[in-house]
Amino acid sequence: MTWVEPSPTATALLLLGRGADPDTEKGVECPGDLPAPSDPGLVERAARAKAALGDRVFVLGHHYQRDEVIQFADVTGDSFKLAREAAARPDAEYIVFCGVHFMAESADILTSDSQRVVLPDLAAGCSMADMAALVQVEKAWDRFAELGIAGEIVPVTYMNSSADIKGFVGRNNGVVCTSSNAETALRWSFEQGTKVFFLPDQHLGRNTAVLKMGMSLDDCVLYDPHKPGGGLTDEQLRGAKMILWRGHCSVHGRFTLDSVHDVRERVPGVNVLVHPECKHEVVTAADYVGSTEYIIKTIEAAPAGSAWAVGTELNLVRRLANAHPDKQIMFLDRNICYCSTMNRIDLPHLVWALEELVAGRVPNQITVDAETAHHARVALDRMLALP
Ligand code: 13P
Ligand code: SF4
Repeated sequence: MTWVEPSPTATALLLLGRGADPDTEKGVECPGDLPAPSDPGLVERAARAKAALGDRVFVLGHHYQRDEVIQFADVTGDSFKLAREAAARPDAEYIVFCGVHFMAESADILTSDSQRVVLPDLAAGCSMADMAALVQVEKAWDRFAELGIAGEIVPVTYMNSSADIKGFVGRNNGVVCTSSNAETALRWSFEQGTKVFFLPDQHLGRNTAVLKMGMSLDDCVLYDPHKPGGGLTDEQLRGAKMILWRGHCSVHGRFTLDSVHDVRERVPGVNVLVHPECKHEVVTAADYVGSTEYIIKTIEAAPAGSAWAVGTELNLVRRLANAHPDKQIMFLDRNICYCSTMNRIDLPHLVWALEELVAGRVPNQITVDAETAHHARVALDRMLALP
């Protein structure tokens, strides 16, 4: 098997988790009459409603969405690409976001006041985003201020965080990042200050700091919001370059070093390709690491006959396997690993949302209050302006 070099962006990310917290479906009931999932007319109904809305609606689909939903997306992408796409559609009256809550919030912040952002199921949250609440983050910041180090810390939040947290970061001269641009965001941050407070994904923060920025694991400390003072001494905080929030993705946090060893034993010559939300030891043992967009491009560029064990959400891995029957594409873990909140958006919810819009009602609109949106936008715009 010959390896075809990935694209330059792919190569740049070359070689760059525990947790199985319960997913945070918020138990939100759909406020309308959902069509039955068994309704054989759902595909036709979705197509009809979308056609009736024409250019008034723009449907965004994250790569982790179900195939039944992705088929109706005007554009698919990772969270960075979708944020840019939302910002680039000033003429669409409605943005239907097939993704999770924090993505829809970001779309609302980046679009004009006259545009409405719709999340087909309000239970589509994100357990990682829920691991950082504003009150906890402000408490941590107060501690840094008491210690006299807040002035040298730049807060950086992963896109996968609530609008409140993005607003906090914007107010405190920080920046948003995604898995596509975390290194660039960290480089920018270390030009502004001497320490970074990275929220809420410890793994993306650690992986980027150590494997892309050349820091050591000792440069990173873990702030646990459930422990007094974050569980860190004054000395640890003063000595750290990266203060990582104790948050993680319940999907990517499940991959283990054992799953990497196991697949290498079962499939000689396999390439291990993972998302940087995976644990440090998994990322270090992998061959390639990058965002969902990067994962797709790397598989597309791979030669026929090559074998790939992919450590990311299962809807995407399955879609890649179906799209590339000439390559051997498998899920990195032996266990099934969907993101249950991403999966909340199914065809019945999409049909319901589109038909409501056709009927002149705006269902499940996601809005961010003006004050929060203002500060969050500052942090998002800083990210969009990064080279
Ligand atoms: P990206 O879309 O930035 O790759 O992040 C993956 C993810 O977990 C989205 O929820
Ligand atoms: Fe959140 Fe992980 Fe699901 Fe992404 S994959 S929405 S980070 S729980």
